[in-house]
Amino acid sequence: MSVAAASDVLTGLPEAGVTAKGASGAITLAKLGQVSATPQLLAISDIHVGHAENRPIVEGLRPGHPGDWLIVAGDVAETVPDVEWALSLLKSRFDTVIWVPGNHELWTTTKDPVQLRGVQRYEHLVEICRRLGVHTPEDEFPVWTGDGGPVRIAPLFALYDYTFRPDGATTKEESLAIAHEAGIVCTDEYFLHPDPYPSIDAWCHARVEYTERRLAACDPDVPLVLVNHWPLVRQPTRVLRYPEFAQWCGTELSADWHTRFNTASVVYGHLHIPRHTVYDGVPFEEVSLGYPREWKPRGLPEKLLKPVLPVRVAP
Ligand SMILES: [Fe+2]
Ligand SMILES: [Fe+2]
Repeated sequence: MSVAAASDVLTGLPEAGVTAKGASGAITLAKLGQVSATPQLLAISDIHVGHAENRPIVEGLRPGHPGDWLIVAGDVAETVPDVEWALSLLKSRFDTVIWVPGNHELWTTTKDPVQLRGVQRYEHLVEICRRLGVHTPEDEFPVWTGDGGPVRIAPLFALYDYTFRPDGATTKEESLAIAHEAGIVCTDEYFLHPDPYPSIDAWCHARVEYTERRLAACDPDVPLVLVNHWPLVRQPTRVLRYPEFAQWCGTELSADWHTRFNTASVVYGHLHIPRHTVYDGVPFEEVSLGYPREWKPRGLPEKLLKPVLPVRVAP
């Protein structure tokens, strides 16, 4: 049985909406600055600061205006000290920082001094964020009143439940069997523990219930920006190099959230395929940086921090 790290099976798509800058992979910190005359709502994900070559990129991230807000859509790092380092740095620079967990923050690995698992690990990260002044899915949803507002930023943690199944599978067990047979098994299976839930899908279902309750309680007259590490709909996973991997990428239970709730935009990451798509008239932005071996061949994008507003609905 082989184990494939996420990037090994996710990359390979010529991404849309990204301007490649040469093939050298050299970091040009000057282009990390995006000076703006007015405050902007910006987003990035999958900064993976455990990778040494990603750290100077994160250190180079600065607001283009002192009033900029930054959405960090998960996969900051695998260890708690690294997550805290990155979020603390970003909070020291941006007016407001909003974080959602990715699967990597939820891993419990031997190299992490914090050995908490599952829900306890997530709650520990939330406590750190609160100490830093960073918004989480457990806090009141902040309202952006700058350009393109007012919009309510809803950081979500919906997880996944193995329902993005490959052809031929009708159950989680069949889906996992196909993945193991193909040798495409997400590292989550070894490091992401659902404690005290019996399974990740059970944890996901509790999160979906909580999230739907939170979204239903929002004022429907204020549009939402939904932020979730995993894509809320299955369509973005259709371009994966290995379709078996989709089962670790979301849940069918969130498929109608962008139409059921008044949604201006959806921000996500996880796939390491930065792109802009539109589903049912709602823009979806995949805002990942990714691993050095992914961004180096194509170069860094023109805008590393993606403006979320004004919304783009052009395909
Ligand atoms: Fe990632
Ligand atoms: Fe991820």
